[in-house]
Amino acid sequence: MNPTIELLKSHRSIRKFTDQKIPHELLIELIRAGQAAATSNHVQAYTVIHVKNPANREKIAELAGGQSYVATASDFLVFCADMKRPTEAAERSGANVVRGMTEQLVVASVDAALMAQNVVVAAESEGLGICYIGGIRNNPQAISDLLHLPEHVYPVFGLCLGYPAVDPDVKPRLPVEAILKEDYYVDDSELVAAFDDAMQSYYGERRGGNKDSNWSKNLSPLFSSKLRAHMREFLTKRGFEMK
Ligand SMILES: Cc1cc2nc3c(=O)[nH]c(=O)nc-3n(C[C@H](O)[C@H](O)[C@H](O)COP(=O)(O)O)c2cc1C
Repeated sequence: MNPTIELLKSHRSIRKFTDQKIPHELLIELIRAGQAAATSNHVQAYTVIHVKNPANREKIAELAGGQSYVATASDFLVFCADMKRPTEAAERSGANVVRGMTEQLVVASVDAALMAQNVVVAAESEGLGICYIGGIRNNPQAISDLLHLPEHVYPVFGLCLGYPAVDPDVKPRLPVEAILKEDYYVDDSELVAAFDDAMQSYYGERRGGNKDSNWSKNLSPLFSSKLRAHMREFLTKRGFEMK
């Protein structure tokens, strides 16, 4: 049994935490583990805001759609895609910098996500629980104002960290045959139908919150409206124009 793989496969999001605080040195060590992630061209296009001010934590919980664990977790981090630092560094070294390319948005978002996931795995290896908070993109401008984010920096998601007060089941994933294809893309709707049955059973039987649903039904509200339609304008305003 490879303990790293076992750890990865035992992940579940935690939304209820004990009052125990994460030691500061451990938090810094988690961030260092995050920084060790691969980064496109070594650009390190991210900044993490450790939100310590309790009033701001409350405000963000509300702005993220009433997600109280943002305020109650031991720590809350906002992972930002940051093209300010690398483009300014290149400029100082004499480059005639072009900003706002779509590729820069992709690079910085991917960099921030890879770094965050390293933090997550490191945290879980220390017995901590985590929950990503994409809900901060419900109100990205208000979040940016609250955190004093400059141009060319945008908040990708938040992350709650703390000691778990609950022990939820691991949520099933699609069968590997659906997401891993050999040589060519092939249709996998039959595998999805089987997965829907598995998820229906999971939701019916899981501890701490049964519901009558499946994977496809759960996705329906996500794709039946223009989700976070403000994102394009918001990103353009922040200097990620998508050219
Ligand atoms: C980028 C991202 C954003 C997320 N945003 C939220 C969120 O705002 N609130 C929440 O409760 N969970 C959020 N989640 C957690 C997902 O709902 C969760 O990972 C998914 O349902 C799978 O469950 P598991 O993490 O327990 O395996 C987010 C996850 C990711 C990766």
